[in-house]
Amino acid sequence: MKVPDSGMPEKNYWESLFDVSLVLDRLGVDQTVRNVAEMGCGYGTFTLPVARRVAGTVFTFDIEPAMAECTREQATEARLDNVHPTLRDVLVHGFNLPSGSCDACLLFNILHFADPQALVAEAARVIGPGGRVLVMHWRSDIPTPRGPDIAVRPRPVQVQSWAAAVGLSTGLTLDLPPWHFGIVLSK
Ligand SMILES: C[S@@+](CC[C@H](N)C(=O)[O-])C[C@H]1O[C@@H](n2cnc3c(N)ncnc32)[C@H](O)[C@@H]1O
Repeated sequence: MKVPDSGMPEKNYWESLFDVSLVLDRLGVDQTVRNVAEMGCGYGTFTLPVARRVAGTVFTFDIEPAMAECTREQATEARLDNVHPTLRDVLVHGFNLPSGSCDACLLFNILHFADPQALVAEAARVIGPGGRVLVMHWRSDIPTPRGPDIAVRPRPVQVQSWAAAVGLSTGLTLDLPPWHFGIVLSK
């Protein structure tokens, strides 16, 4: 079940919309992080930079064959052997990962559908104690050049309530300029 309005524009345009280093710095992605799960790799915009920073493997999943393949090809070209892209419908089948096997789970630009709490719960399952679910999404309070309809974009307060419902604690809402906010959810 593909998340509605989750198709991708052209790669260079998509990647012009983020300051990837700033996002990963502010969300605390560094060498202290071992294995990572990611829902929806897309073009690998964050997957590869995350793989360069962390000490473990990035297990990333996408429902679109072209997206998983794009990420795989780039990882191979970059000789990153700690990127594992898999074709999978995460909403229907979850992450194919054992409980508590990751230090972080990335939910970037994806929580704009009917029942995001179930995905937040699945993300919480794959992280161990002290692990973090990292959320980033388009802001709703400013005009943005792209992003799903304002009506379906998750607000920080909604993310916090989904987190609380699955037993995660929430940190401050982070500004991820120019167009995004982030929240770190901790186990
Ligand atoms: C808006 S893109 C974001 C990609 C990446 N997270 C980023 O921020 O650059 C959302 C991605 O999630 C994928 N996706 C949508 N529904 C999915 C599902 N049910 N399971 C796995 N991937 C899914 C889409 O194919 C798309 O590549």
